[in-house]
Amino acid sequence: MPIIAPSLLSADFLNLQKDCDMLNASQADWFHLDVMDGSFVPNISYGFPVIELVRKATTKICDVHLMIQEPGKYAEAFKKAGADILTVHIEACPHLHRNLQQIKSLGMKAGVALNPHTPVHLLSDILHDIDMVLLMSVNPGFGGQQFIPHTIDKIRALKHMIKEKNLHTLIEIDGGVTLDNAAAIVHAGADVLVAGNTVFKSADPSATIAALKKL
Ligand code: DX5
Ligand code: ZN
Repeated sequence: MPIIAPSLLSADFLNLQKDCDMLNASQADWFHLDVMDGSFVPNISYGFPVIELVRKATTKICDVHLMIQEPGKYAEAFKKAGADILTVHIEACPHLHRNLQQIKSLGMKAGVALNPHTPVHLLSDILHDIDMVLLMSVNPGFGGQQFIPHTIDKIRALKHMIKEKNLHTLIEIDGGVTLDNAAAIVHAGADVLVAGNTVFKSADPSATIAALKKL
């Protein structure tokens, strides 16, 4: 069964408590929190105050996806805000090894995200230091975009690398996950499904989460 991580980017920000309550009562495993800086990606989302409030509203795992430049500057602040998993983009980290050590020394799980054009083989000499790889299946910055089909090949290739090295690294897929493509994504080797629009724009978000979970 996949881990389901609804993305609060598509939640109702005026009624966050209501959406947090819904997720708490649902089969959602994690809360996926998208932080954007308007520089690494062409959009700005939310930051510490929102994450602190969400942290107080749930005991589920807070999976924080940083789409920001120089994430190392803020790792400690995200830990304080309540992150359990902190994911940084490989494209924003010239000193990725140092970033991962920092995240782990702060007591968080360390994730690395790859944009659609970034090949998975770039991870070959760092995979053993990574708890989770997030493969972007859309260009980061916005919810509600179309899944890029080539992601399926990347999942297969990454799964192969993980098995070959005898590791237990999780594969998280983020962007354009729907009830129609989720089975193929899990079948290719994904462990974690992020879903924003598919969950929050559905008539019954909690039933949609249950349907994703059943895959
Ligand atoms: C996009 C974010 C995603 C986004 C996914 O840059 O990283 O987490 O919320 O939204 P959907 O599931 O609507 O594509
Ligand atoms: Zn995300």
